[in-house]
Amino acid sequence: MLKYISIKKKIDHFKSKSIFIPGDKSLSIRFVLLSSLSKGKCTAYNLLKSEDVNSAIKNIKKLGIKVLLNKSKCEVNGKGLFGYKYRKKLVLDAGNSGTTARLLCSALIDAQYPTKIIGDKSLKKRDMKRIIKPLKLFGVKFQDNKGKLPIFIKGSKFTKPISYTENLGSAQCKSAIMIAALKTHGVTKIKSLPSRNHTELLFKNVLNVPIKYKKQKKYDLIEIKGKKEIKPFNYKIPGDISSAAFFIVLTLLSENSKLILKNININPSRIGIIKILNMMGAKIKFLNKKNYKGEIIGDIFVKSRKNLNSINLNSTLNSSAIDEFLLIFLVASKCKGVSTFAKLSELNKKESRRLDWSVKILKMMNVRVVKTKNYGIKIWGNKNFQTKNNFIIKDYLKDHRIFMLSTIAALSLGGNWKIYDPDSFKTSFPTFLKILKKLGAKIE
Ligand code: S3P
Repeated sequence: MLKYISIKKKIDHFKSKSIFIPGDKSLSIRFVLLSSLSKGKCTAYNLLKSEDVNSAIKNIKKLGIKVLLNKSKCEVNGKGLFGYKYRKKLVLDAGNSGTTARLLCSALIDAQYPTKIIGDKSLKKRDMKRIIKPLKLFGVKFQDNKGKLPIFIKGSKFTKPISYTENLGSAQCKSAIMIAALKTHGVTKIKSLPSRNHTELLFKNVLNVPIKYKKQKKYDLIEIKGKKEIKPFNYKIPGDISSAAFFIVLTLLSENSKLILKNININPSRIGIIKILNMMGAKIKFLNKKNYKGEIIGDIFVKSRKNLNSINLNSTLNSSAIDEFLLIFLVASKCKGVSTFAKLSELNKKESRRLDWSVKILKMMNVRVVKTKNYGIKIWGNKNFQTKNNFIIKDYLKDHRIFMLSTIAALSLGGNWKIYDPDSFKTSFPTFLKILKKLGAKIE
Protein backbone atom coordinates (compact mmCIF):
# COMPACT_ATOMS: atom_id res chain seq x y z
CA MET A 1 0.00 0.00 0.00
CA LEU A 2 1.13 3.57 -0.73
CA LYS A 3 2.58 5.49 2.23
CA TYR A 4 1.54 8.84 0.86
CA ILE A 5 0.11 10.52 -2.20
CA SER A 6 2.21 12.97 -4.07
CA ILE A 7 0.94 16.07 -5.90
CA LYS A 8 3.39 18.21 -7.87
CA LYS A 9 1.16 20.18 -10.18
CA LYS A 10 -1.95 22.31 -9.99
CA ILE A 11 -5.00 21.00 -11.77
CA ASP A 12 -5.44 22.32 -15.34
CA HIS A 13 -8.64 24.17 -16.05
CA PHE A 14 -11.62 21.84 -16.30
CA LYS A 15 -15.08 22.35 -17.70
CA SER A 16 -16.76 19.13 -16.76
CA LYS A 17 -20.50 19.41 -17.30
CA SER A 18 -21.49 17.69 -14.12
CA ILE A 19 -20.40 15.30 -11.39
CA PHE A 20 -22.27 13.21 -8.83
CA ILE A 21 -21.11 13.20 -5.23
CA PRO A 22 -21.80 10.13 -3.00
CA GLY A 23 -24.66 10.02 -0.49
CA ASP A 24 -24.87 12.26 2.57
CA LYS A 25 -23.00 10.78 5.54
CA SER A 26 -25.32 12.20 8.21
CA LEU A 27 -28.40 10.83 6.45
CA SER A 28 -26.75 7.48 5.69
CA ILE A 29 -25.83 6.83 9.34
CA ARG A 30 -29.26 8.00 10.49
CA PHE A 31 -30.90 5.66 7.96
CA VAL A 32 -28.92 2.67 9.27
CA LEU A 33 -29.62 3.34 12.94
CA LEU A 34 -33.26 4.41 12.62
CA SER A 35 -34.19 1.58 10.23
CA SER A 36 -32.73 -0.88 12.75
CA LEU A 37 -35.35 0.40 15.23
CA SER A 38 -38.27 0.18 12.78
CA LYS A 39 -40.54 -2.82 12.48
CA GLY A 40 -39.91 -4.38 9.05
CA LYS A 41 -37.83 -4.01 5.92
CA CYS A 42 -36.43 -0.54 5.14
CA THR A 43 -34.57 0.28 1.94
CA ALA A 44 -32.10 3.07 1.22
CA TYR A 45 -30.90 4.02 -2.24
CA ASN A 46 -27.58 5.80 -2.76
CA LEU A 47 -26.43 5.01 0.79
CA LEU A 48 -22.88 6.29 1.29
CA LYS A 49 -20.51 3.32 1.16
CA SER A 50 -17.78 4.59 3.45
CA GLU A 51 -15.98 3.40 6.56
CA ASP A 52 -18.12 5.53 8.92
CA VAL A 53 -21.37 4.15 7.51
CA ASN A 54 -19.88 0.68 7.55
CA SER A 55 -19.17 1.07 11.28
CA ALA A 56 -22.86 1.81 11.85
CA ILE A 57 -23.89 -1.23 9.76
CA LYS A 58 -21.46 -3.59 11.53
CA ASN A 59 -22.81 -2.55 14.92
CA ILE A 60 -26.50 -3.04 14.15
CA LYS A 61 -25.57 -6.47 12.74
CA LYS A 62 -23.88 -7.29 16.05
CA LEU A 63 -27.17 -6.33 17.70
CA GLY A 64 -28.97 -8.99 15.68
CA ILE A 65 -30.28 -6.88 12.78
CA LYS A 66 -30.08 -8.34 9.26
CA VAL A 67 -28.63 -6.05 6.61
CA LEU A 68 -28.37 -6.65 2.90
CA LEU A 69 -26.07 -4.32 1.05
CA ASN A 70 -25.48 -4.35 -2.68
CA LYS A 71 -24.48 -1.88 -5.38
CA SER A 72 -27.88 -0.29 -5.78
CA LYS A 73 -29.44 -0.45 -2.33
CA CYS A 74 -29.21 -1.23 1.37
CA GLU A 75 -31.96 -3.23 3.07
CA VAL A 76 -32.26 -3.27 6.83
CA ASN A 77 -34.69 -5.63 8.56
CA GLY A 78 -35.63 -3.72 11.67
CA LYS A 79 -37.05 -5.63 14.61
CA GLY A 80 -38.87 -2.80 16.31
CA LEU A 81 -37.93 -0.24 18.95
CA PHE A 82 -36.88 -2.88 21.47
CA GLY A 83 -35.68 -5.54 19.01
CA TYR A 84 -31.91 -5.48 19.60
CA LYS A 85 -30.41 -8.75 20.79
CA TYR A 86 -28.14 -7.93 23.73
CA ARG A 87 -25.44 -10.37 24.81
CA LYS A 88 -23.12 -10.38 27.77
CA LYS A 89 -19.70 -8.85 27.03
CA LEU A 90 -20.88 -7.25 23.80
CA VAL A 91 -18.33 -4.82 22.32
CA LEU A 92 -19.42 -2.32 19.68
CA ASP A 93 -16.78 -0.50 17.65
CA ALA A 94 -17.64 2.93 16.22
CA GLY A 95 -14.29 3.16 14.40
CA ASN A 96 -13.65 6.81 13.46
CA SER A 97 -17.28 7.87 13.50
CA GLY A 98 -18.46 10.36 16.14
CA THR A 99 -21.99 10.27 14.73
CA THR A 100 -22.13 6.47 15.01
CA ALA A 101 -20.70 6.46 18.54
CA ARG A 102 -23.03 9.15 19.88
CA LEU A 103 -26.24 8.09 18.15
CA LEU A 104 -25.61 4.42 18.82
CA CYS A 105 -25.23 5.02 22.57
CA SER A 106 -28.71 6.54 22.60
CA ALA A 107 -30.16 3.54 20.78
CA LEU A 108 -28.73 1.36 23.57
CA ILE A 109 -30.65 2.92 26.44
CA ASP A 110 -32.46 -0.39 26.94
CA ALA A 111 -29.23 -2.47 26.90
CA GLN A 112 -29.80 -5.45 29.18
CA TYR A 113 -26.09 -5.98 29.94
CA PRO A 114 -23.21 -3.52 30.20
CA THR A 115 -22.30 -2.93 26.56
CA LYS A 116 -18.86 -1.61 25.69
CA ILE A 117 -18.39 1.08 23.03
CA ILE A 118 -14.92 1.55 21.60
CA GLY A 119 -13.42 3.65 18.83
CA ASP A 120 -10.17 4.34 17.00
CA LYS A 121 -7.27 6.56 18.13
CA SER A 122 -9.06 9.75 17.00
CA LEU A 123 -12.50 8.87 18.38
CA LYS A 124 -10.96 7.95 21.76
CA LYS A 125 -9.92 11.59 22.15
CA ARG A 126 -13.41 12.97 21.52
CA ASP A 127 -15.89 14.20 24.08
CA MET A 128 -18.67 11.79 25.01
CA LYS A 129 -19.81 13.76 28.08
CA ARG A 130 -22.12 15.73 25.82
CA ILE A 131 -24.30 12.64 25.37
CA ILE A 132 -23.54 10.85 28.64
CA LYS A 133 -25.00 13.77 30.62
CA PRO A 134 -28.48 13.78 29.02
CA LEU A 135 -28.63 9.98 28.66
CA LYS A 136 -27.95 9.58 32.38
CA LEU A 137 -30.99 11.77 33.04
CA PHE A 138 -33.12 9.26 31.12
CA GLY A 139 -32.02 6.67 33.70
CA VAL A 140 -29.16 4.99 31.84
CA LYS A 141 -26.05 3.86 33.74
CA PHE A 142 -22.60 4.60 32.37
CA GLN A 143 -19.16 3.49 33.34
CA ASP A 144 -17.02 6.00 31.57
CA ASN A 145 -13.47 6.95 31.21
CA LYS A 146 -13.70 10.67 32.11
CA GLY A 147 -16.18 11.22 29.32
CA LYS A 148 -14.10 9.47 26.66
CA LEU A 149 -14.29 6.08 24.95
CA PRO A 150 -14.21 3.26 25.87
CA ILE A 151 -17.45 3.49 27.83
CA PHE A 152 -19.90 0.90 29.13
CA ILE A 153 -23.66 1.44 28.94
CA LYS A 154 -26.19 -0.45 31.00
CA GLY A 155 -29.71 0.50 30.00
CA SER A 156 -33.05 0.38 31.72
CA LYS A 157 -36.57 -0.76 30.90
CA PHE A 158 -37.93 2.18 32.84
CA THR A 159 -36.33 5.25 31.29
CA LYS A 160 -38.01 8.58 32.09
CA PRO A 161 -38.55 11.44 29.61
CA ILE A 162 -36.36 14.49 30.14
CA SER A 163 -36.30 18.23 29.47
CA TYR A 164 -32.90 19.31 28.25
CA THR A 165 -31.18 22.40 26.89
CA GLU A 166 -28.55 21.61 24.28
CA ASN A 167 -26.12 24.51 24.28
CA LEU A 168 -23.35 23.31 21.96
CA GLY A 169 -25.25 23.58 18.69
CA SER A 170 -24.42 19.91 18.16
CA ALA A 171 -26.73 17.87 15.93
CA GLN A 172 -25.16 14.68 17.24
CA CYS A 173 -26.04 15.59 20.80
CA LYS A 174 -29.57 16.70 19.87
CA SER A 175 -30.13 13.55 17.78
CA ALA A 176 -28.87 11.30 20.58
CA ILE A 177 -31.52 12.76 22.91
CA MET A 178 -34.17 12.40 20.19
CA ILE A 179 -33.37 8.72 19.61
CA ALA A 180 -33.39 8.00 23.34
CA ALA A 181 -36.82 9.72 23.45
CA LEU A 182 -38.13 7.18 20.93
CA LYS A 183 -37.53 4.39 23.44
CA THR A 184 -38.98 6.30 26.40
CA HIS A 185 -42.59 6.52 27.50
CA GLY A 186 -43.87 10.12 27.78
CA VAL A 187 -42.83 13.43 26.24
CA THR A 188 -39.16 14.44 25.99
CA LYS A 189 -38.53 18.17 25.54
CA ILE A 190 -35.38 19.58 23.96
CA LYS A 191 -34.33 23.21 23.65
CA SER A 192 -31.44 23.21 21.27
CA LEU A 193 -29.18 25.76 19.60
CA PRO A 194 -29.68 25.44 15.81
CA SER A 195 -27.81 22.59 14.13
CA ARG A 196 -28.47 20.32 11.15
CA ASN A 197 -32.08 19.12 11.36
CA HIS A 198 -32.05 15.79 9.49
CA THR A 199 -33.28 13.81 12.50
CA GLU A 200 -36.23 16.18 13.01
CA LEU A 201 -37.17 15.90 9.30
CA LEU A 202 -36.86 12.11 9.32
CA PHE A 203 -38.97 11.78 12.48
CA LYS A 204 -41.65 14.10 11.13
CA ASN A 205 -41.84 13.26 7.43
CA VAL A 206 -40.59 9.69 7.18
CA LEU A 207 -40.98 7.79 10.46
CA ASN A 208 -44.26 9.38 11.58
CA VAL A 209 -42.97 9.88 15.09
CA PRO A 210 -45.22 12.20 17.16
CA ILE A 211 -42.94 15.25 17.15
CA LYS A 212 -43.47 18.98 17.59
CA TYR A 213 -40.70 21.08 16.14
CA LYS A 214 -40.59 24.86 16.31
CA LYS A 215 -37.83 27.33 15.47
CA GLN A 216 -37.53 30.24 17.86
CA LYS A 217 -35.16 33.19 17.88
CA LYS A 218 -32.27 31.58 19.73
CA TYR A 219 -33.30 27.95 20.28
CA ASP A 220 -35.19 25.24 18.38
CA LEU A 221 -37.88 23.58 20.49
CA ILE A 222 -38.51 19.88 19.99
CA GLU A 223 -41.02 17.62 21.74
CA ILE A 224 -41.17 13.89 21.11
CA LYS A 225 -43.72 11.42 22.37
CA GLY A 226 -41.96 8.11 22.80
CA LYS A 227 -42.69 4.40 22.47
CA LYS A 228 -44.61 4.60 19.21
CA GLU A 229 -43.58 1.79 16.84
CA ILE A 230 -41.73 3.00 13.69
CA LYS A 231 -43.16 1.70 10.42
CA PRO A 232 -40.70 0.52 7.77
CA PHE A 233 -39.62 3.20 5.30
CA ASN A 234 -37.67 3.74 2.09
CA TYR A 235 -35.31 6.64 1.49
CA LYS A 236 -33.28 8.03 -1.42
CA ILE A 237 -30.16 9.63 -0.01
CA PRO A 238 -29.04 12.85 -1.76
CA GLY A 239 -25.38 13.82 -2.31
CA ASP A 240 -23.36 15.15 0.62
CA ILE A 241 -22.69 18.91 0.57
CA SER A 242 -19.74 18.43 2.92
CA SER A 243 -18.06 16.25 0.27
CA ALA A 244 -19.24 18.50 -2.57
CA ALA A 245 -17.57 21.42 -0.77
CA PHE A 246 -14.08 20.16 -1.71
CA PHE A 247 -14.95 20.35 -5.42
CA ILE A 248 -16.73 23.68 -5.02
CA VAL A 249 -13.60 25.24 -3.53
CA LEU A 250 -11.30 23.55 -6.04
CA THR A 251 -13.34 25.06 -8.89
CA LEU A 252 -13.55 28.46 -7.26
CA LEU A 253 -9.78 28.71 -6.70
CA SER A 254 -8.69 27.17 -10.03
CA GLU A 255 -8.44 29.04 -13.31
CA ASN A 256 -11.20 29.13 -15.94
CA SER A 257 -13.07 26.16 -14.52
CA LYS A 258 -16.75 25.35 -14.16
CA LEU A 259 -18.65 22.59 -12.47
CA ILE A 260 -22.18 21.41 -11.78
CA LEU A 261 -22.60 19.11 -8.79
CA LYS A 262 -25.81 17.12 -9.19
CA ASN A 263 -28.42 16.08 -6.67
CA ILE A 264 -26.90 17.57 -3.53
CA ASN A 265 -28.64 17.99 -0.19
CA ILE A 266 -28.93 21.77 0.17
CA ASN A 267 -30.93 21.70 3.39
CA PRO A 268 -30.74 25.27 4.82
CA SER A 269 -29.08 23.92 7.98
CA ARG A 270 -26.15 22.63 5.85
CA ILE A 271 -25.43 25.42 3.35
CA GLY A 272 -23.37 27.72 5.56
CA ILE A 273 -20.40 27.23 3.23
CA ILE A 274 -22.35 28.45 0.19
CA LYS A 275 -23.67 31.48 2.07
CA ILE A 276 -20.19 32.35 3.33
CA LEU A 277 -18.48 31.88 -0.05
CA ASN A 278 -21.18 33.96 -1.74
CA MET A 279 -20.65 36.69 0.85
CA MET A 280 -17.00 36.57 -0.32
CA GLY A 281 -18.11 37.03 -3.93
CA ALA A 282 -18.27 33.43 -5.19
CA LYS A 283 -21.65 33.67 -6.99
CA ILE A 284 -22.47 29.97 -6.51
CA LYS A 285 -25.96 29.07 -7.71
CA PHE A 286 -28.54 26.41 -6.86
CA LEU A 287 -30.42 24.88 -9.80
CA ASN A 288 -33.39 22.49 -10.05
CA LYS A 289 -34.36 22.77 -6.38
CA LYS A 290 -36.93 20.29 -5.08
CA ASN A 291 -38.32 19.16 -1.76
CA TYR A 292 -37.78 15.50 -0.83
CA LYS A 293 -39.42 14.51 2.46
CA GLY A 294 -38.52 17.89 3.93
CA GLU A 295 -34.91 17.94 2.68
CA ILE A 296 -34.13 20.41 -0.12
CA ILE A 297 -32.22 18.86 -2.98
CA GLY A 298 -30.67 20.63 -5.95
CA ASP A 299 -27.71 21.01 -8.29
CA ILE A 300 -24.89 23.41 -7.47
CA PHE A 301 -23.23 25.54 -10.15
CA VAL A 302 -19.81 27.01 -9.43
CA LYS A 303 -17.27 28.88 -11.55
CA SER A 304 -13.69 30.05 -10.94
CA ARG A 305 -13.47 33.56 -9.47
CA LYS A 306 -10.44 35.83 -9.60
CA ASN A 307 -11.72 38.51 -7.26
CA LEU A 308 -12.84 37.08 -3.95
CA ASN A 309 -13.16 39.36 -0.92
CA SER A 310 -12.35 38.89 2.72
CA ILE A 311 -15.09 38.40 5.32
CA ASN A 312 -15.70 39.24 8.99
CA LEU A 313 -17.91 36.42 10.08
CA ASN A 314 -19.81 36.31 13.35
CA SER A 315 -20.77 32.90 14.74
CA THR A 316 -24.36 32.60 13.41
CA LEU A 317 -23.37 30.40 10.45
CA ASN A 318 -20.85 28.30 12.39
CA SER A 319 -23.05 25.27 12.91
CA SER A 320 -24.30 25.18 9.29
CA ALA A 321 -20.72 25.17 7.98
CA ILE A 322 -19.07 23.25 10.82
CA ASP A 323 -17.38 20.60 8.64
CA GLU A 324 -16.35 23.09 5.95
CA PHE A 325 -14.26 25.66 7.83
CA LEU A 326 -10.93 24.17 6.73
CA LEU A 327 -11.96 24.95 3.16
CA ILE A 328 -13.34 28.38 4.02
CA PHE A 329 -9.99 29.30 5.62
CA LEU A 330 -8.21 28.18 2.45
CA VAL A 331 -10.43 30.49 0.39
CA ALA A 332 -9.74 33.31 2.88
CA SER A 333 -6.01 32.90 2.17
CA LYS A 334 -6.59 33.57 -1.54
CA CYS A 335 -8.80 36.62 -1.41
CA LYS A 336 -8.32 40.35 -1.04
CA GLY A 337 -8.11 41.58 2.54
CA VAL A 338 -8.12 40.28 6.09
CA SER A 339 -10.79 37.78 7.21
CA THR A 340 -11.90 36.99 10.74
CA PHE A 341 -13.93 34.08 12.12
CA ALA A 342 -15.30 33.73 15.66
CA LYS A 343 -16.16 31.17 18.36
CA LEU A 344 -14.92 28.03 16.67
CA SER A 345 -14.02 25.93 19.72
CA GLU A 346 -16.07 23.01 18.34
CA LEU A 347 -13.59 22.70 15.46
CA ASN A 348 -10.97 21.43 17.87
CA LYS A 349 -13.34 18.66 18.96
CA LYS A 350 -13.58 16.96 15.59
CA GLU A 351 -11.64 13.98 14.18
CA SER A 352 -8.50 16.06 14.79
CA ARG A 353 -7.97 19.51 16.32
CA ARG A 354 -9.06 21.20 13.11
CA LEU A 355 -8.67 24.81 14.22
CA ASP A 356 -5.06 24.11 15.24
CA TRP A 357 -4.42 22.18 12.04
CA SER A 358 -5.80 25.01 9.91
CA VAL A 359 -3.38 27.44 11.50
CA LYS A 360 -0.54 24.95 11.07
CA ILE A 361 -1.22 24.27 7.39
CA LEU A 362 -1.75 27.94 6.51
CA LYS A 363 1.49 28.87 8.33
CA MET A 364 3.35 26.12 6.44
CA MET A 365 2.10 27.83 3.28
CA ASN A 366 3.47 31.18 4.52
CA VAL A 367 0.00 32.64 4.96
CA ARG A 368 -0.16 35.19 7.78
CA VAL A 369 -2.63 33.80 10.30
CA VAL A 370 -3.26 34.15 14.05
CA LYS A 371 -5.61 32.63 16.54
CA THR A 372 -7.70 35.28 18.28
CA LYS A 373 -9.44 35.17 21.66
CA ASN A 374 -12.28 32.73 22.23
CA TYR A 375 -11.29 30.35 19.43
CA GLY A 376 -11.34 32.88 16.63
CA ILE A 377 -8.96 33.08 13.70
CA LYS A 378 -7.65 35.95 11.56
CA ILE A 379 -6.28 35.34 8.06
CA TRP A 380 -4.44 37.83 5.85
CA GLY A 381 -5.42 36.95 2.28
CA ASN A 382 -3.64 37.57 -1.01
CA LYS A 383 -5.64 37.27 -4.18
CA ASN A 384 -2.58 36.26 -6.22
CA PHE A 385 -1.52 33.63 -3.70
CA GLN A 386 0.34 30.64 -5.18
CA THR A 387 3.14 28.50 -3.83
CA LYS A 388 6.07 26.45 -5.10
CA ASN A 389 7.20 25.14 -1.70
CA ASN A 390 7.46 21.57 -0.43
CA PHE A 391 4.85 20.32 2.02
CA ILE A 392 4.52 17.19 4.11
CA ILE A 393 1.21 16.43 5.85
CA LYS A 394 1.60 13.72 8.45
CA ASP A 395 0.37 12.58 11.89
CA TYR A 396 -3.02 14.22 11.56
CA LEU A 397 -4.92 11.31 13.17
CA LYS A 398 -6.04 10.31 9.67
CA ASP A 399 -8.66 13.05 9.74
CA HIS A 400 -10.40 12.61 6.36
CA ARG A 401 -11.10 16.31 6.00
CA ILE A 402 -7.45 17.28 6.65
CA PHE A 403 -6.39 14.83 3.94
CA MET A 404 -8.91 16.21 1.43
CA LEU A 405 -8.19 19.85 2.35
CA SER A 406 -4.47 19.32 1.74
CA THR A 407 -5.23 17.73 -1.63
CA ILE A 408 -7.39 20.69 -2.67
CA ALA A 409 -4.73 23.17 -1.44
CA ALA A 410 -2.12 21.36 -3.55
CA LEU A 411 -4.28 21.22 -6.68
CA SER A 412 -5.47 24.82 -6.49
CA LEU A 413 -2.45 26.70 -5.11
CA GLY A 414 0.52 24.63 -6.32
CA GLY A 415 3.62 23.35 -4.53
CA ASN A 416 5.08 19.93 -4.07
CA TRP A 417 2.99 17.95 -1.58
CA LYS A 418 3.36 14.61 0.16
CA ILE A 419 0.18 13.71 2.04
CA TYR A 420 0.53 10.66 4.31
CA ASP A 421 -2.11 8.09 5.30
CA PRO A 422 -3.70 8.03 1.86
CA ASP A 423 -6.63 5.89 3.01
CA SER A 424 -7.99 8.59 5.31
CA PHE A 425 -10.60 9.92 2.91
CA LYS A 426 -12.40 6.55 2.84
CA THR A 427 -14.09 7.54 6.10
CA SER A 428 -16.50 9.84 4.26
CA PHE A 429 -15.72 10.03 0.55
CA PRO A 430 -14.25 6.87 -1.00
CA THR A 431 -14.46 8.16 -4.59
CA PHE A 432 -12.69 11.47 -3.80
CA LEU A 433 -9.44 10.74 -5.66
CA LYS A 434 -11.24 9.00 -8.52
CA ILE A 435 -13.40 12.08 -9.23
CA LEU A 436 -10.37 14.38 -8.96
CA LYS A 437 -8.46 12.26 -11.48
CA LYS A 438 -11.46 12.34 -13.82
CA LEU A 439 -11.30 16.13 -13.72
CA GLY A 440 -7.64 15.92 -14.74
CA ALA A 441 -5.75 16.02 -11.41
CA LYS A 442 -2.32 14.38 -11.46
CA ILE A 443 -1.99 12.42 -8.23
CA GLU A 444 0.57 9.67 -7.68
C1 S3P B 1 -23.03 15.49 12.31
C2 S3P B 1 -23.01 16.65 13.02
C3 S3P B 1 -21.82 17.52 13.15
C4 S3P B 1 -20.76 17.21 12.10
C5 S3P B 1 -20.56 15.74 11.90
C6 S3P B 1 -21.85 15.03 11.54
C7 S3P B 1 -24.26 14.69 12.28
O1 S3P B 1 -21.28 17.34 14.44
O2 S3P B 1 -19.54 17.81 12.45
O3 S3P B 1 -19.61 15.54 10.86
O4 S3P B 1 -24.38 13.79 11.44
O5 S3P B 1 -25.13 14.95 13.12
P1 S3P B 1 -21.87 18.11 15.71
O6 S3P B 1 -23.32 18.03 15.61
O7 S3P B 1 -21.37 17.39 16.90
O8 S3P B 1 -21.33 19.50 15.61
